[in-house]
Amino acid sequence: MIFAQMKETHVAQVAELEKLCFGTAAWSEKSITSELTNPLSLWLVAVEEGRVLGYVGSQTVMDETDMMNVAVHPDCRGQGIATGLIVDLIGALKLRGSRCLTLEVRASNEPAKGLYRMLDFQEVGIRKNYYRNPREDALILRKEWEV
Ligand SMILES: CC(C)(COP(=O)(O)OP(=O)(O)OC[C@H]1O[C@@H](n2cnc3c(N)ncnc32)[C@H](O)[C@@H]1OP(=O)(O)O)[C@@H](O)C(=O)NCCC(=O)NCCS
Repeated sequence: MIFAQMKETHVAQVAELEKLCFGTAAWSEKSITSELTNPLSLWLVAVEEGRVLGYVGSQTVMDETDMMNVAVHPDCRGQGIATGLIVDLIGALKLRGSRCLTLEVRASNEPAKGLYRMLDFQEVGIRKNYYRNPREDALILRKEWEV
């Protein structure tokens, strides 16, 4: 398996995984395609024999990055793929001069919270009723590093 920057050939599979993992809140294939030419955006994919197993999407403004989504195919979870994607993303962001990564996570999303805890993200705030279907608070997590 390799981690690589998302290319046009990956987009359909990423969009499919988005739908599988996030349902009605998923990014459309069109929005994901537009990320390929957005100079603020960096998306990485985990690929094995042409199959996209997971991905992470981010946007950087000045020296601050937002992680918009991360997902791993349900059949491939618990193998360190999300960890590898985020570690590689942070490595690439450091080279771009970013100094922190911020994200929102559903308060009840234990696998994701476990992942971010393991990667030393700190809770910096709560957005009340941020999510719909079901309505739920978002925890705001951030990881900072020296540039
Ligand atoms: C969250 C998600 C991306 C994790 O992907 P993954 O590749 O399985 O994660 P990893 O294998 O790298 O796990 C890293 C750590 O996360 C934590 N973790 C992962 N799955 C977990 C689970 N089901 N329960 C509790 N902790 C979990 C563990 O601490 C794990 O470390 P360990 O294996 O040494 O115990 C995956 O579950 C997913 O795609 N979920 C649906 C989409 C989603 O919720 N994305 C996050 C939106 S904010």
